[in-house]
Amino acid sequence: MRIVFFTGAGVSAESGLRTFRDSDGLWEEYRIEEVATPEAFARDPERVLRFYDQRRQQVLQAKPNAAHRAIAELENFARVDVVTQNIDDLHERAGSTRVLHLHGEILKARSTLDPELVVPLEGAGLRLGDLCPLGSQLRPHIVWFGEEVPLLGEAATLVEQADVLAVVGSSLQVWPAAGLVHDAPAWAQVHVVDPKEVGATGSRIRHWRENASTGIPMLVELLKSGRAD
Ligand code: APR
Repeated sequence: MRIVFFTGAGVSAESGLRTFRDSDGLWEEYRIEEVATPEAFARDPERVLRFYDQRRQQVLQAKPNAAHRAIAELENFARVDVVTQNIDDLHERAGSTRVLHLHGEILKARSTLDPELVVPLEGAGLRLGDLCPLGSQLRPHIVWFGEEVPLLGEAATLVEQADVLAVVGSSLQVWPAAGLVHDAPAWAQVHVVDPKEVGATGSRIRHWRENASTGIPMLVELLKSGRAD
């Protein structure tokens, strides 16, 4: 059985990391155009670097929650891939070994000269003047709005091969990532774990109207038992 978890900010909400579009979401406080686009970085790099430094500090203080742990533990029973929109490393810290970050990783930086040149950020901040080995300014290893999503094809291939797709904690409002949920095979089971209604519709979808730390362990138990319909 191949299981793909497609996760969004909601899976990390109970670890204390803010989501984007809930009432206290990040986009209630910041304008995307000022902190999360290549134009913003060109116009005011220090502001953008400060925004991601704050995100990074919060990620370093956060801990995986029961949802991350249950997803990781399921690897003992099935082939599990995590396709996440999240830039935190909580899936990895919980023990997941196959995690694909569609929108980048907050604990890495990359060269503004060569996007393939990615360096780890050992928790430090990223400042103007921090240069890559080629001598160009380092930037957050994040996919900003308007930028290509390099791992989209790899993610689609995983979803197309899934027997089970579980969409966890995503409002499915950001494309092309959100489009992945439509790539699941017709026979695949599709579960949504989210306390609210989300964009995924269709009779075959089972919606667990739960927080991730409650709903995911329940879903994982069902999948482990093989009783999932
Ligand atoms: N458990 C499960 N789901 C939750 C929880 C929780 N405890 N709390 C909130 N949610 C759900 C919300 O109901 C919502 O559906 O998580 C979802 C969060 O949606 P968004 O804030 O839009 O986050 P996400 O879908 O991950 O955003 C996608 O947008 O801003 C960009 O690049 C950013 O990766 C991000 C992308």
